[in-house]
Amino acid sequence: MALTGLFLILFLVVHLIGNLQLLKSDNGEAFNVYAQFMTSNPLIKVISYLNYAFILIHIIWSIILTRRNRSARGPEGYAVTRNSSHWTSRNMGILGTFIFIFLVIHLRSFWYEMHWGGIPMANYNGTDYKDLYTVVDTAYASIGFVMLYVISMALLAFHLFHGFGSAFQTLGLNHIKYNPMIRIVGVAFAIVVPALFALIPLYMYFN
Ligand code: HEM
Repeated sequence: MALTGLFLILFLVVHLIGNLQLLKSDNGEAFNVYAQFMTSNPLIKVISYLNYAFILIHIIWSIILTRRNRSARGPEGYAVTRNSSHWTSRNMGILGTFIFIFLVIHLRSFWYEMHWGGIPMANYNGTDYKDLYTVVDTAYASIGFVMLYVISMALLAFHLFHGFGSAFQTLGLNHIKYNPMIRIVGVAFAIVVPALFALIPLYMYFN
């Protein structure tokens, strides 16, 4: 869970930097050129396949672990559930399930359209590009869709809030001296990254 989680955290950073180009006032040119590069470059394609595999392993492994933990505890469950651990730690499965539902809707709306949908074309300096920007812009014209993103990003924040620190702990990358720093970076990451993701649909809706 930790290794795949850290890879997905890296993916989120790259994905965010790419998506922030949606905010440029250039009618989508920078974003469309970037999206075309990301779907056609052979090296990026290999990384993409790794990413799909890591997402699946992360989900399947989480189900296996949850089942194993439950059966290890037995049918009586825990007498005390309100302990000192943060509620996000005890609800990673629920948070993960909602993020999975978000991901299915997200991939169907954008990723599927980019690869197999009949999307409009745009021409920059004599070269044709798929106009993914218009697909995203049209989707974010709906307040319901924007709200889905904002709520999902809040859930992602809670998921990362626990996941970031716990990944370091699982991999043994914790040390009494560095733990406070890992915690601060983890909390900052869990707030800033989802907030910037949520800003994109909000900005596009209100502009
Ligand atoms: C405002 C927020 C977001 C926007 C505007 C956005 C936009 C997009 C677009 C346009 C694509 C299709 C690009 C392509 O196929 O080349 C895509 C793919 C993808 N998105 Fe997002 N995304 C957002 C947030 C997220 C989040 C939070 C996650 C994960 C929790 C995520 C996971 C993915 C994945 C896994 C793909 C497939 C990437 C690949 O083919 O390698 N996205 N996104």
